[in-house]
Amino acid sequence: MDPYAVELLRVSKTYKSYQALFGIDLQIRKGEFFSLLGPSGCGKTTSLRLIAGFEEPTAGEVRIDGQAVAGLPAYRRNVNTVFQSYSLFPHLSIFENVAFGLRRRKVEQSEIVRRVDEALAMVHLSDKSKGRTHELSGGQQQRVALARALVNQPAVLLLDEPMAALDSKLRKEMRSELKRLQKSLGITFVLVTHDQEEALTLSDRLAVMNAGRVEQVCEPREVYERPATRFVAEFIGTANFLPVTVREVSNGRTRVDSEDGQFWVTSRPGLQIGDAAELSLRPERLWLDKASSAEHNSLDGTVAEAIFMGPVTRYVVKLKNGQQLLTEKQNLEESTFQAGDPVCVHWEADSGALLPR
Ligand SMILES: Nc1ncnc2c1ncn2[C@@H]1O[C@H](COP(=O)(O)OP(=O)(O)O)[C@@H](O)[C@H]1O
Ligand SMILES: [Mg+2]
Repeated sequence: MDPYAVELLRVSKTYKSYQALFGIDLQIRKGEFFSLLGPSGCGKTTSLRLIAGFEEPTAGEVRIDGQAVAGLPAYRRNVNTVFQSYSLFPHLSIFENVAFGLRRRKVEQSEIVRRVDEALAMVHLSDKSKGRTHELSGGQQQRVALARALVNQPAVLLLDEPMAALDSKLRKEMRSELKRLQKSLGITFVLVTHDQEEALTLSDRLAVMNAGRVEQVCEPREVYERPATRFVAEFIGTANFLPVTVREVSNGRTRVDSEDGQFWVTSRPGLQIGDAAELSLRPERLWLDKASSAEHNSLDGTVAEAIFMGPVTRYVVKLKNGQQLLTEKQNLEESTFQAGDPVCVHWEADSGALLPR
């Protein structure tokens, strides 16, 4: 059995003269909650439309369940799409909206009733089946759109920014709803989103896209802790970047030089002695002390700003060379540093990520 629900192999897509995708590779496993994450215009929807069969690639191959699907029309692919705009039919009842695809395929009436009831129950809308779509809230309409896709029992559900039109409370509810559905049905979900929190909280794995290319494919924790590129480190969360030079590589650790000192950090495959690199440091992995310690990486500086934010205090520390580092400290005790205080910024060798420069 093929382990992949969907594969994109060296897929490029050009619209007239505009190239939207540059030879992307993706392998989405069966039963996985997979997200395509990236800024607007990076090619997420295009990738989804190639899987759905609304577009054909200019080069490369799309496979669904191990089979190349070139030329196979959308309705013959075992996938269904939920769009951001729900595109429901206002003149039909909610039941008939969900039944629409089954009726077109001439499924028997008793089977239609059974499957539509089941799909509406999945999204907790059984009591609304006789109503019209305009009687529903935005969140409920989106759930009808979900039921309409799930009623076809697709192997893969494609979701294009399905929560973008919902307010933040509904979006959070819809998130847990999606996760619950995906877990209980066990089918493959491919979610397109520009919302990093959505992608991190929902996905088993995700692909970060930038300008028609895939920058990294991995699990949520890894994309945050071990970003592959500066783009990924900046797009997901907040990071400080220190310019460094690689000096020594030994036992999975790398010694680097910066303007203000030497550090040991976790090695990155491919970086050689003498290479220019950048060290990406997350604010919450840095801590402040009055004095330096030989056991940890450290940099001297001065607190430029201390911003109390409730659960955390954000400190901006100015280094000797003028660079500012953002650090964040949980307020487990009363904060101890104020603007103007000389401080030492510390971090563990394995809490930064080396990036090529
Ligand atoms: N039908 C089309 N014709 C021409 N350009 C398109 C078409 N569809 C998308 N594009 C362009 O391709 C790029 C990627 O679009 P899209 O895949 O929709 O990005 P995303 O979903 O990540 O925001 C954008 O610059 C967009 O303007
Ligand atoms: Mg899009």
